[in-house]
Amino acid sequence: MSDLSGRTTIVVGASRGLGRGIATAFAEAGAPVIAVSRTATEFPEPANGSGTIRTELADAGDPSVAGRLLDDHEPQTLVLVAGANPHMRPLQQHTWETFSANWQSDVRITFHWLRETLLKPLHPGTRVIVLSSGAALAGSPLSGGYAGAKATQRFITAYAQEEADRAGLDITFTAVLPRMTPLTDLGRSAARAYAAYNGQTQEEYLQQMGPVLTPEIAGGALVELVRTDPAGLAPGYVLTGGGLKKLP
Ligand SMILES: NC(=O)c1ccc[n+]([C@@H]2O[C@H](COP(=O)([O-])OP(=O)(O)OC[C@H]3O[C@@H](n4cnc5c(N)ncnc54)[C@H](OP(=O)(O)O)[C@@H]3O)[C@@H](O)[C@H]2O)c1
Repeated sequence: MSDLSGRTTIVVGASRGLGRGIATAFAEAGAPVIAVSRTATEFPEPANGSGTIRTELADAGDPSVAGRLLDDHEPQTLVLVAGANPHMRPLQQHTWETFSANWQSDVRITFHWLRETLLKPLHPGTRVIVLSSGAALAGSPLSGGYAGAKATQRFITAYAQEEADRAGLDITFTAVLPRMTPLTDLGRSAARAYAAYNGQTQEEYLQQMGPVLTPEIAGGALVELVRTDPAGLAPGYVLTGGGLKKLP
C-alpha cells in the first residue's frame, strides 16, 4: 500500500483548509486525486511524486452528486472533509437554522456519500476516511449543533463499517477527529470567538492548545493512515499537530 499511484482518491471539500492539504498530500504521494468543492480553485503541480489533481465543481450535499462522482471515478480512497463553518455564538443567540447548519451540510454529506459507497458498492480494499472533529468528544458550546453533528458523522462512519462487514465488502471506514486549528477559515473564526468569550487574546487561547495542526500535517497523517494495514487500524483517531492518536 505504500505506492498510491494506482489508487484514485476523491477528496470532498478540497478547495481550501484541511481538504486542500489532504488533496495535495495524496497527489504528492503519487495518487490521482479528484478534488471536489463548490468553488473553483487551482492547485500547483504536486511538488513530489507522480500524482495529479483534477477538480470537480459540485455541491457534495446534493443527493445525486455522490453517486455520479463515485460512478465516474471508482475511487479506492474516499476522504470526506467538507463541512459548514458554524456561526459562533452562545446558545440563546442561535436560531434553529444557525444551530442546525452542520446537520444540513456535514451530516448530510456523510450520509449521502457513505450510503452510495455501500450501495454501489466501491471495490474491495477501498478506504473511506471521514473528518469529524475533536468537538465530538469535548463539545463546542459556541457553535450550536456543530459538536453533535460531528459526533453523528463518527457514528455514521461506524454504522457504515458494520454494514460493510455484514455484506463482506472489505471496505474500511475510519473517522478522524481533528483538533481546532487557526490555519483554516473554520478554525480561525472558532479560535477568535472562544478567545473573546474567555476574555483572552487569540495568542493566549492558542498557546494552551499545544502544537498547531497544519493542513500539511493533516495531509501527511491521512496518507499514513491509508498506507497502514487495515488490520492495524482503529475505528477512529484524534488528529493534532503531533499527529494521529487512536481512539478506543
Ligand atoms: N479547522 C478546524 O479547526 C477543524 C477542527 C476540527 C474539525 N474540522 C473539520 O474539518 C473539516 C475541514 O475543515 P476546514 O477548517 O478545512 O474548513 P474550511 O477551511 O471552511 O474548508 C471547508 C471545505 O469544504 C468545502 N465544502 C463545504 N461545503 C461543501 C459542499 N456542500 N460541497 C462541496 N464542498 C464543500 C469548501 O469548499 P467550497 O466552499 O468551495 O465548496 C472547503 O473546501 C470540516 O469538516 C471541519 O468540521 C476542522
